[in-house]
Amino acid sequence: MKKKVISIENLYFQYDSMPALENVNVDIFSGEFVAIFGPNGGGKTTLLKLIMGLLVPQKGKLLLFDHPPEETRHLIGYVPQAMHFDRDFPISVLEVVMMGMLGKLSWRGSYPPDAKRKALLALERVGLAHKANASFGTLSGGEAQRTLIGRAIADAPSVLLLDEPTANVDIEAEKSIYAQLLELNQTMTILMVTHDLQTIVDKAGKLLCVQRQVTALKAKEVCEHFALGLYHTPLTSKRHFSL
Ligand SMILES: Nc1ncnc2c1ncn2[C@@H]1O[C@H](COP(=O)(O)OP(=O)(O)O)[C@@H](O)[C@H]1O
Ligand SMILES: [Mg+2]
Repeated sequence: MKKKVISIENLYFQYDSMPALENVNVDIFSGEFVAIFGPNGGGKTTLLKLIMGLLVPQKGKLLLFDHPPEETRHLIGYVPQAMHFDRDFPISVLEVVMMGMLGKLSWRGSYPPDAKRKALLALERVGLAHKANASFGTLSGGEAQRTLIGRAIADAPSVLLLDEPTANVDIEAEKSIYAQLLELNQTMTILMVTHDLQTIVDKAGKLLCVQRQVTALKAKEVCEHFALGLYHTPLTSKRHFSL
């Protein structure tokens, strides 16, 4: 039987007065490729932050590898939404990837001895080994995003979370990112927030529609969902506006 990687039961989370997520029940198993979609403000990024233990649910249970996420989040690699690097900041591609191992710095502030080797390996996996010494600012949008994926996988995580990794890249770069993610999926569980359902629908084994509540859908159901226009209608009820 496949191992349960993420287990979410009756989860409820709010920032201020409005619930951002409620009554969430989701299980993610080892090796799955999960696409997360839904309207802006639906709670997708919030869900990823809860999985990483950066936010804590007010109600319900969330376990990562059978433990509270604070204890196991080192097993996660994360590519945040719209990561803006100052393009003029003088840093090489290799150095950006090595930042994925900042959590492993010694008390003197130096990287562990194998950090560079791991970073080079990660760059190879995202097809950018030849750019290791290039300045990060000279990369194309797609290459920059692949570098950030390299950074997220440098420390060999078991789970990779990506928040809209193809939002600002052209179609060719998008294709190459998806191809690389499918390859990475051979060795890690992947959860990716994306608006690009057309491309991902037949690649992802599981689709989660996040719209304050989370609904797991199969590819066919997603199309029906769209046909009904449900995706564009916020599920928010009057109850929540009248607070
Ligand atoms: N730091 C925050 N403080 C207060 N409200 C927030 C914060 N981050 C997100 N929200 C609110 O929580 C809801 C879900 O946001 P988010 O998870 O970012 O949605 P998505 O990623 O699907 O666009 C939105 O209503 C958003 O305004
Ligand atoms: Mg978001």
